[in-house]
Amino acid sequence: MKTLTAAGITRRAIARMSKCRDPRLKQIVRALTNHLHDFAREVKLTPEEWQAGIEFLTAVGHITDEKRQEFILLSDTLGLSAIVDLMANRKGGANATDSSLLGPFFRQGAPIFSMDGDVSHGASGDKLLVAGRVLNTAGKPVAGALIDTWQASSDGIYDLQQKDSDLMNFRGRLRTGADGRFRFRSVKPSSYPVPSDGPVGKMLLALARHPYRPAHVHFKIAAPGYRTLTTALYIAGDRYLDSDVVFGAKKSLVVSYRRSETNGAASTIEFDFVLDRKESTNKRSRRKLAASV
Ligand SMILES: [Fe+2]
Repeated sequence: MKTLTAAGITRRAIARMSKCRDPRLKQIVRALTNHLHDFAREVKLTPEEWQAGIEFLTAVGHITDEKRQEFILLSDTLGLSAIVDLMANRKGGANATDSSLLGPFFRQGAPIFSMDGDVSHGASGDKLLVAGRVLNTAGKPVAGALIDTWQASSDGIYDLQQKDSDLMNFRGRLRTGADGRFRFRSVKPSSYPVPSDGPVGKMLLALARHPYRPAHVHFKIAAPGYRTLTTALYIAGDRYLDSDVVFGAKKSLVVSYRRSETNGAASTIEFDFVLDRKESTNKRSRRKLAASV
């Protein structure tokens, strides 16, 4: 029996995966093992620090339930989600709208609204009208696209964080008309801190990082034949645009409020979303796979 060295353990751990029949799983776990071992060697991880790491991840798991996803928050605040999103959503059609993070506050089955509906149900805050079109990369309207939208209140709080978190508010679903247009009413969203009363909040504090996201409105847009777009519009001038705690804000998604009196709204944001056809994504994926084999 040989005496194991730190480098020898890495070689052996990887060799033990040799019979794995799933090449992608093998590739991922092999790289993860390599990087994890290199990380421990680089920082000369002590048993106490290893224990602290285990306790941290255990706490992340314990606080996670169907309404709170601390693991996504951890991934988001470490920048991992943004990297995965960027790699998966490199533009196909040259003018397709950039994606942005789904985040931890998306909910299935939001209420359905018709054109001009108020997703804030008359909540207090500065009135807002959100309008635009859903187009394809050739500039043609996409009729009947299903838009899911969700946002924080003017106080920076999502419905999931309210006392009665079963009630849905500041979110809704609506369809584009024959001309690809959509329009709904709401209130101006506020910048907000990500949930900071758990282990990720403690981590941010220990790292002297602020927990804020710039004000934004989320969108998930689906239409047959098109790749579902998950994105968000960020409000120009927000003090956290350049230091978004989850690295989600992108320049191409920044919009400005315009003054408007339409439908009693004091401000309007307008944006045309451009969807990428499904085929171009599939072709891209095939090209990527071919290149990686
Ligand atoms: Fe958000």
